[in-house]
Amino acid sequence: MSEAAYQEEPVMNVAEPVSQALSIPRISIHGFFEDPACAQVLESATTDRRLSKTHTSVQLGGIPAAVEQFASAPTPNLIIVESRAGREGMLAELGRLAEVCDAGTKVVVIGHLNDVVLYREMVRQGVSEYIVAPYNQMQIINSIASLYNDPDVSPVGRVFAFVGAKGGVGSSTIAHNIGWVISDSLNEDAVIADLDIPFGTAGLNFNQDPTQGIAEALTSPDRLDEVFLERLLSKCTDRLSLFAAPAVIDRDFEWEDSALEAVIDVVRRQVPCFVMDIPHVWTPWARQAMLMADDVVITAEPDLANLRNTKNLVDVLKAARKNDNPPRLVLNKVGMTKRPEISPVDFAGALQLEPSAIIPYEPVVFGTAANNGQMIDEMEKSDRVSEQLHGLARVVAGRSEAPVIRKSMFAPLLEKFSRKKGAN
Ligand SMILES: Nc1ncnc2c1ncn2[C@@H]1O[C@H](COP(=O)(O)OP(=O)(O)O)[C@@H](O)[C@H]1O
Ligand SMILES: [Mg+2]
Repeated sequence: MSEAAYQEEPVMNVAEPVSQALSIPRISIHGFFEDPACAQVLESATTDRRLSKTHTSVQLGGIPAAVEQFASAPTPNLIIVESRAGREGMLAELGRLAEVCDAGTKVVVIGHLNDVVLYREMVRQGVSEYIVAPYNQMQIINSIASLYNDPDVSPVGRVFAFVGAKGGVGSSTIAHNIGWVISDSLNEDAVIADLDIPFGTAGLNFNQDPTQGIAEALTSPDRLDEVFLERLLSKCTDRLSLFAAPAVIDRDFEWEDSALEAVIDVVRRQVPCFVMDIPHVWTPWARQAMLMADDVVITAEPDLANLRNTKNLVDVLKAARKNDNPPRLVLNKVGMTKRPEISPVDFAGALQLEPSAIIPYEPVVFGTAANNGQMIDEMEKSDRVSEQLHGLARVVAGRSEAPVIRKSMFAPLLEKFSRKKGAN
């Protein structure tokens, strides 16, 4: 908004109806108000159909209450705060809020001053929108809709590709559990897509009847829109849905190269977190899925074949994604009795990649979860596993850094492979 427009026409004073095309994704919104009447406007707006997919909560206490709450809890996708403070006071309060905000959280401010200097300073601090009170329901709905439909701003969803360095290493199990933790503990809406069309286990792991879900989406990408998406997803919880795999082997599913991209585009416009569970295959579409993801999580067991495969995957992904995060490494099934293993320190050293999680071999915990169709967090807690899964979920969701492990003092094991390659 230009300064002139701002001065002549106080912010958002005309409530225009939201165009049909503008939909508000499945975001979490938390409002903190000083004035109960202002709070009531957002409260009533949540009953509007356009906000029906969001999870919205409204409370009093203004910015200080938000700062207190988010000092120890993850922030939602959107925070709406109302403040009666003057220019300096409000900027100071917003500064404190910024310190506790996770990356990716947007902030909309409702204030009582029509002050251009304040507005400019807030935009500089990263505030997405400033609304001058009094405001009405359509103004706030319009503001939220335009925040999430701006073609210049990246869509709400982040896309994660989970892949195993070998088959059976636990990549799917980890992908499903991370989707669960992100939706259940970090309060972000998530969709998990099981891309293992003939053998996928997401339906079993979440105790859901298999549907055509992902296969139908991939084979009819031109029909894919918000409504179709809704029909193809099976709902696991209020915040977690599944694109299940049909898991049938008597039918071949073929899809166009662009189909997966279409699915990713639709989902990332609607849902904050999209977990793609990719089977251990190296096909053009699997490669493309890894290249399109915002982050790739490679799960490996601590042996030599896993190390070689991880090294190859990391090399390809790093070369093709120079401006992205390097892949995340998860070491799984670590500490299996009697199995000779490469230590996490050596494994990490050889790859020059710190593991984002090191998950112990726990056959009883994982076996019971799989047989019950439950996630690890739903069962009697295994602290060793849970702690690693929660840490990984926070890293993946961009909520904190990976736990640090000691640096390797050993010569990279992979020299052996490079020598072999050189000899060929
Ligand atoms: N840390 C672990 N300890 C013991 N068993 C595990 C562990 N992680 C996964 N599993 C088990 O390993 C098997 C293969 O897991 P899955 O996720 O299907 O592997 P992938 O997707 O890599 O092929 C499953 O039975 C799963 O319960
Ligand atoms: Mg799998």
